[in-house]
Amino acid sequence: MVSSRECFNPSEETFVTKSEPQKDLGAEAVVARGHGRAKLILFGEHAVVYGKPAVAAGLPRGATATVQFSDAAVHQLTLRSALDEDVYARVECGAALDNVGVDAGDGERLCKAFAAILGHFDCPKTLQVDVTIEVPMGVGLGSSAALSVAVARGIGQLLGQPEQVDEAVDASERVFHGNPSGLDQMMAASKSGVYFYARAYDSELEVAPIEAPALTLAVCEAGPAASTAAMVEMVAQRRLRESQLIDSVNQVIGDTARAASAALTDGDWARVGELMDINHGALSSLGVTTRAIDAACHVARGAGALGAKLTGAGGGGCVVALTPGGAEDVLKAWAEHGWSGFEVTIDHRSK
Ligand code: MEV
Repeated sequence: MVSSRECFNPSEETFVTKSEPQKDLGAEAVVARGHGRAKLILFGEHAVVYGKPAVAAGLPRGATATVQFSDAAVHQLTLRSALDEDVYARVECGAALDNVGVDAGDGERLCKAFAAILGHFDCPKTLQVDVTIEVPMGVGLGSSAALSVAVARGIGQLLGQPEQVDEAVDASERVFHGNPSGLDQMMAASKSGVYFYARAYDSELEVAPIEAPALTLAVCEAGPAASTAAMVEMVAQRRLRESQLIDSVNQVIGDTARAASAALTDGDWARVGELMDINHGALSSLGVTTRAIDAACHVARGAGALGAKLTGAGGGGCVVALTPGGAEDVLKAWAEHGWSGFEVTIDHRSK
């Protein structure tokens, strides 16, 4: 077992340009940046909320926040897409964190999350925060956790308060997701690689890197964005009605994560793929798959993927397929059905 610190270091992936933090706050333009990774859950989503283990990875892209002191009366945050520079939302928050508001776009939760992050720091002046998001939002790739980590790291770095980052991220993720398992934020702050994650009710947090050979995957956006909080709530309702059955399904999902951890270490791709298919079937029993997600999984398997499953909360969003020989054929087959995707290689030896 390794401690969470090994992959969750608040001061990592942050840097300050032009001046040291906290020196001469007014005279110089002090700019800090923080980065958070998007994530791919390979095994265990939803069941992880009930204390079962999961296997997941941080992606190189995610969110980058630029943070600087401002002369405005309020803290301001602007969220842009890296793909087209479109402004998704502009939100602000009073210096006393009292009045939050949305200036532009759909930022209801974003401004509450911004206030939640700010509440964990001692800010001598108001802040201007510019966030660029490098993945689509709401499709299971952990955009909110990437954003939370990037913003909290940037603010922590600018103010010289990196020890506050962890709790600030937690508060922000609670705004976005209600009762998150912590998996997304851990991956957003991770180093490159695949991790075994377990936070059972009665034991300590375990986050262990899996020493797997480089892992090549295809990812596509099979459905529209969906709310993680709504999907988690839907599973909770099903569990209230059928507690024994849903606990059994969650147990199966947790067991696939444990088995996958060993299969990944051995580079046993045939087994990893089969376990992904089993995990997907179990997620279907939880009610979080959709017709489009199931179809994208079938198409991927038909094009040579060794296994495929939804990734993230479901209800829409992304599918991940195992393509050890390269993702080209799967991406082509998806494109023929109108789904755009990308290939990603996860290697704990890369940065
Ligand atoms: C969402 O990315 C993953 C879920 O398991 C929720 C969570 O872990 O908090 C569905």
